[in-house]
Amino acid sequence: MKIDGTPYRTVWVDETDGWSVRIIDQTKLPWSVDKPRLTTLAQVAHAIRTMQVRGAPLIGAAAAYGLCLAMRADATTAALEQAGALLGATRPTAVNLRWAIERMLARLRPAAPAQRVAAAYDEAARIADEDVAQCAAIGRHGMALIAAAAEAKGGGRVDVLTHCNAGWLATVDWGTALAPIYMAHEHGIAVHVWVDETRPRNQGAALTAFELGKHGVAHTVIADNAGGHLMQHGMVDLAIVGTDRVTRGGDVANKIGTYLKALAAHDSAVPFWVALPSSTIDWRIRDGIAEIPIEQRAAAEVTQLTGPTADGTLATVQVTAPGSPVANPAFDVTPARLVTGFITERGRCPASEAGLLSLFPEFA
Ligand code: MRU
Repeated sequence: MKIDGTPYRTVWVDETDGWSVRIIDQTKLPWSVDKPRLTTLAQVAHAIRTMQVRGAPLIGAAAAYGLCLAMRADATTAALEQAGALLGATRPTAVNLRWAIERMLARLRPAAPAQRVAAAYDEAARIADEDVAQCAAIGRHGMALIAAAAEAKGGGRVDVLTHCNAGWLATVDWGTALAPIYMAHEHGIAVHVWVDETRPRNQGAALTAFELGKHGVAHTVIADNAGGHLMQHGMVDLAIVGTDRVTRGGDVANKIGTYLKALAAHDSAVPFWVALPSSTIDWRIRDGIAEIPIEQRAAAEVTQLTGPTADGTLATVQVTAPGSPVANPAFDVTPARLVTGFITERGRCPASEAGLLSLFPEFA
């Protein structure tokens, strides 16, 4: 997707040297577009841990490139295993991270050490390119829902609510939840997005609003607590969110607050769709509430806010009473029963094991 007319992916190999890894530093958005050059495994692990890169598919692709840098430094089997373990420990909830590392290890373990660098870059590029293709396919399958809503409204504007950032910044390109919106926009369908601010880290207010704005898609940022009210008043035609892990049974882990939006949508009969590439499905577990590890993050994300002052310099301010204890679970689990359906690269399906297997029978 484009920023001010220039097309970007969220992670790529530096064009000049052909080996270092470039990212867009998402902790700086929307205030500046910084593209740091990463040259070591440790830098990639740091970028994932500190959320310079974030979003389930993107952290998987970034980890794949982290293994490329690790192999450049030391292509022994011991170094490969250590790098996989280090990257795998950076964030716990999104299964795409484990998926990408396991795929890389499966490709690199049987290779001779002398072949591993080339093989790593090849596999990482495949992971990145496949993510782009899958997200584009999600866009096509999801656009049909927006087109149907537009038709049901006699061509009127379709209002979509989304939570967190599941746009191109969260993937390699296109996004998951936002891909159908970009496709609908490009096909001339009038679409407007209610953007949950998504406290505590404000991925909606900072990232989703940024990318929709850069792409010219109509949107309105709302406080997280506003969604239920909008749904009660018929102001949301459908909700589309992304996910960090979907269980075999169809339970959905996503950014904290997603569950509350699903409850509100259920009460107001608003369709609640979840968009995901198949790399987000954890076929090994069934019960999301019991089995998905929920990341607990720093208290400062809740107690502080950062933004520009009048002269443009960034300032951080405290927003909670000094000394109050804080809890900061970063994700929650929405039970499958509250999800209308999944939008995947192979099409749409009910949020259930049978639904998922109808599209991915190879996992039966
Ligand atoms: O903590 P984050 O910003 O990495 O969380 C991201 C989300 O929860 C997204 O909704 C999810 O990864 C889907 S991204 C296509």
